[in-house]
Amino acid sequence: MAHDAFSPLGRREVLELALSGLALAVMTASPFAALAQAAGGGAPLKIGTIGAGREGGALGTLFAKHGHPLMFSSRNPDQLKELVASAGPNAQAGTVEQAVAFGDVVLLVVPYTAVEQIGKEHGNALASKRLVIDVSNPIARRDGEEIVKWANDQGGAGLATQKLLPGAHLVRGFNAIGSGRLAEDAERKGDPVGIPIAGDDKAAIELASSLIKETGLEPVLIGGLAMGKYLVPGTPLAGEHSPAEIRQIASTLK
Ligand SMILES: NC(=O)c1ccc[n+]([C@@H]2O[C@H](COP(=O)([O-])OP(=O)(O)OC[C@H]3O[C@@H](n4cnc5c(N)ncnc54)[C@H](OP(=O)(O)O)[C@@H]3O)[C@@H](O)[C@H]2O)c1
Repeated sequence: MAHDAFSPLGRREVLELALSGLALAVMTASPFAALAQAAGGGAPLKIGTIGAGREGGALGTLFAKHGHPLMFSSRNPDQLKELVASAGPNAQAGTVEQAVAFGDVVLLVVPYTAVEQIGKEHGNALASKRLVIDVSNPIARRDGEEIVKWANDQGGAGLATQKLLPGAHLVRGFNAIGSGRLAEDAERKGDPVGIPIAGDDKAAIELASSLIKETGLEPVLIGGLAMGKYLVPGTPLAGEHSPAEIRQIASTLK
């Protein structure tokens, strides 16, 4: 499995993961959670997407259909007319610059080779956002071995993206759930489908969690951005799992 390629976590990382999980448990149990929910969850939030292909299109559509003003972006926004029409009245399209300016939250959903350039061109603006959800994965067959090795050398996809987007309030999420399954999973009755997330920024984690929960999916914090290395296709967390399964799998990822 792909996670075998990564080095095992050190004691410090394990401690950080435990503290991170504890912190979230405390946050969600406290009266402050209600305040945070009121500030973020439920109220429409402007969302911009960088990337509006298969996954960016599906995710943007999901959030637009849940009431959030949404701007998809492309280097050729004229090509997004069909997507905008199918996503409904909350959706529009623009350039990458326009979508970054538009969103309080930005979804980064591009081939990993594009992230460095996006960081150079839009890094300052992205650092000013409340939340950047990093959906992008370094994948050898698409992006090349070199960038995958580089990302692994940084500690995996989460820490690598943070290096490319310094100061951004990053949460990794939706990285290994297929674009074709998102809408159906979100509407599933009964036990929700879990979305494993990883991040180091408490406010960004809270906001990402409330946004995900609104869609009918269930966020499951698996740890800090260092754990983002497990949020890529080919690891045990990839695909569809219940929240309990995600917690159980994550507990084995040392
Ligand atoms: N497909 C899935 O089911 C899935 C699931 C989870 C995660 N992911 C991850 O999501 C990311 C996107 O995958 P995808 O399948 O959606 O790819 P895709 O269908 O090929 O779409 C890629 C998108 O990235 C944009 N893009 C490419 N280079 C760019 C650049 N330099 N600046 C700005 N935008 C750029 C493209 O916009 P233009 O119109 O400008 O070309 C396009 O909208 C990947 O990292 C993938 O691993 C995919």
